[in-house]
Amino acid sequence: MKDKLESLRKEFTKEIQAVANSLDVEALEVKYLGKKGPVQQLMKFLKDATPEERPKLGKSINDLKIEFSEKINEKLSAFQNKEWEKQLEEEKIDVTIPGRRRFPGAKHLVNKVLDEVIDILIEMGFSVQYGPEIDTDYYNFKALNFAPNHPAMDMQDTFYITDDVLLRTHTSNIQTRFMEGHKPPIRIIAPGRAYRNEDVNARSHVFFHQVEALYVDKGVNFSDLISTMEKFVQELFDPSIEMKFRPSYFPFVEPGMEVDIRCLVCEGVGCPVCKHTGWLEVAGAGMVHPEVLKNGGIDPEEFSGYAWGMGIERLVMLKYGIKDIRIFTENDQRFLRQFV
Ligand code: DAH
Repeated sequence: MKDKLESLRKEFTKEIQAVANSLDVEALEVKYLGKKGPVQQLMKFLKDATPEERPKLGKSINDLKIEFSEKINEKLSAFQNKEWEKQLEEEKIDVTIPGRRRFPGAKHLVNKVLDEVIDILIEMGFSVQYGPEIDTDYYNFKALNFAPNHPAMDMQDTFYITDDVLLRTHTSNIQTRFMEGHKPPIRIIAPGRAYRNEDVNARSHVFFHQVEALYVDKGVNFSDLISTMEKFVQELFDPSIEMKFRPSYFPFVEPGMEVDIRCLVCEGVGCPVCKHTGWLEVAGAGMVHPEVLKNGGIDPEEFSGYAWGMGIERLVMLKYGIKDIRIFTENDQRFLRQFV
């Protein structure tokens, strides 16, 4: 019996030294200490032992069982610790690594400047109105005193939806519309998009933003227009900004003019943005034509007014030294993120 115990111990010791991981140890536990294992089998011999031998023998078997069990537990916890460490090492999260920044999105540069423009004009006493982007040729052209065969009304310049419905070519479509429903004093701005069927190049696009202004009251005159525009441009850029007013023709104003700003992209030296003139046209303006006032139901004998339409993209290009209008619509994140 003693020999049996001894050889079992030897066999077990050899095997437990050879195990490679906790699974092997668990298998060994089943093999030696399981119900059908050799230790349990030894118990059967107890009944053949003499009554004096039996307690001693029983104790030896039990001791062996405890010994095996201790060794197994020892090995098992050693392996388990190692395996845990390995797993932890593999799944390690380095909380000190800087996170990847998520870009939360932001206002487009054009809208940002548009908001600035609106804020300045609100402070100067204008209220904000919005005209429709899809409108009739009446409000876009006829009511604004365009002659029936005016070239601007040509299919080549205007996106028509039907014979008399179109994408507005300017924000001036608000003028008659608003006058029809409101009595002077009128002091509004109308920001928004306008569309032209034009070739796309560095300076012009098929759609762009404008801010229209309309001021109608008793005694409104040309110097009100000039001083308001000057004040606005100084607020948006800098008090030292250089402006130029050139006589020009628009059917809905008399007299009419174009407003230029010294090109800030090239500091007036000349560049593709200003067509090498050193100046950039940013607005059309003038005194509201009596016919337009009449179309809006306002008596030109009693009231006068001024109006302007300003190109927002041009202002943004000047403000930020941007040389190509197309970049605003290309959705290039590298460009857009610079202005967050
Ligand atoms: N609507 C004109 C354009 O888009 C600009 C303009 C000129 C607007 C004179 C005005 C104005 O209100 O009085 O070219």
